[in-house]
Amino acid sequence: MITKDNILQKLKELINIDYFSKAIISNPIKKGENLPKKIDIKKIILKNKPCFQFTYYIDKKVTHENIEDSNIILEKIVSIMKENFKQCDILADNSLTLLMNKKGDFKITGIKKSTNIDIAPQAHNKAKNYILKDGEYIDWLYKLGVMDKNGVVVSHKQKKFRQINKFLEMLKDVEENLPKNAKIIDMGCGKSYLTFAMYHYFNIIKNKNVTINGYDLKKDVVEHCNNLAKEFNFKNLQFFNEDIQNIDKDENIHMIISLHACDTATDYAIYFGVKLNCDVILSVPCCQHELFKQIKNENLSSMLSYGILKERFSSLLTDSLRADALKLCGYKTNIIEFIDMEHTPKNIMIKAIKNKNFTKNAKNIEDFEKLIYNFNINPTIYKLLKDYF
Ligand SMILES: C[S@@+](CC[C@H](N)C(=O)[O-])C[C@H]1O[C@@H](n2cnc3c(N)ncnc32)[C@H](O)[C@@H]1O
Repeated sequence: MITKDNILQKLKELINIDYFSKAIISNPIKKGENLPKKIDIKKIILKNKPCFQFTYYIDKKVTHENIEDSNIILEKIVSIMKENFKQCDILADNSLTLLMNKKGDFKITGIKKSTNIDIAPQAHNKAKNYILKDGEYIDWLYKLGVMDKNGVVVSHKQKKFRQINKFLEMLKDVEENLPKNAKIIDMGCGKSYLTFAMYHYFNIIKNKNVTINGYDLKKDVVEHCNNLAKEFNFKNLQFFNEDIQNIDKDENIHMIISLHACDTATDYAIYFGVKLNCDVILSVPCCQHELFKQIKNENLSSMLSYGILKERFSSLLTDSLRADALKLCGYKTNIIEFIDMEHTPKNIMIKAIKNKNFTKNAKNIEDFEKLIYNFNINPTIYKLLKDYF
């Protein structure tokens, strides 16, 4: 038995509040019209800040109380229990049940180390250590229809949620190459789930002061995104209705991203990144149609006679030339899998980081030019970047 004076100390030894996921206070001593029957507590993101949401179930009404100060949460749980509850189940770095007897003394049972403290309600998100958690409410994800009001990812947005998390992992990987107040441009941002996620990651999770501008051809989408940015109070996020090809900027931009920008729009995004000497360029190409119409090669005539194989080969060749061109412009470049093939065939990411020790190599330029000559092609990436080789 643990006395009421010692219980808080004991609880603090067992629960690290940074890993708190949720708790349920139940089994009231007194029942009455105005008394809560149950209280749920969960960690959520509200108005861009992490906080603890207490949900009180009183009769048929549900009321919420949001508390930002993590230092008082365990104390508040103990004090609520002392007032009127016999039980509290807590899930954090340890999971445990706190029981209070009639004398007001406590017992802690079922202490178990949580093997995965990111435990989430959706089975297939359980095992992953996602940056954004299924089950942890984030207001802009709710407003975009990705989560419900309990923070649970809705079933038809599961893929989107995984894609967002995968993208955030990629940002985490390149973050060290960017200043704290980086300026980022998202080219072909579309509905901008990933742009909002990027803003959330840098400015809310990482507490940086990153500015992001999104560009897209669709006027209504741009308007909608600007309205959402205002609604979410994302002050350094703005959208512009402009063709990537016409963007004219000479200010310091640190990162360019282009995710699924169609066909040669990807080439313009990469060109823009090189022209502005960006530290990082991330691009997930799609609809690589350009080379399909140009490509010819006697040695590969068999493969190129099958439409579907010609299409795939043209796409792969397009992206390998983009990656090579970036290398020739002084970037360390990799091609990595953006998201598992089962989710989308558009799963290749070109990741380029400025190589500060780069020296030009004439042989590499010659090899690149030989390759395009051998396939009888004149790709946009070459036309745009050859002066930077
Ligand atoms: C498939 S959506 C991708 C949206 C978002 N980046 C994502 O990955 O979820 C491609 C977007 O690129 C935009 N786009 C295509 N070509 C463009 C160009 N030349 N300039 C600006 N936007 C362009 C389209 O309007 C469209 O919204």
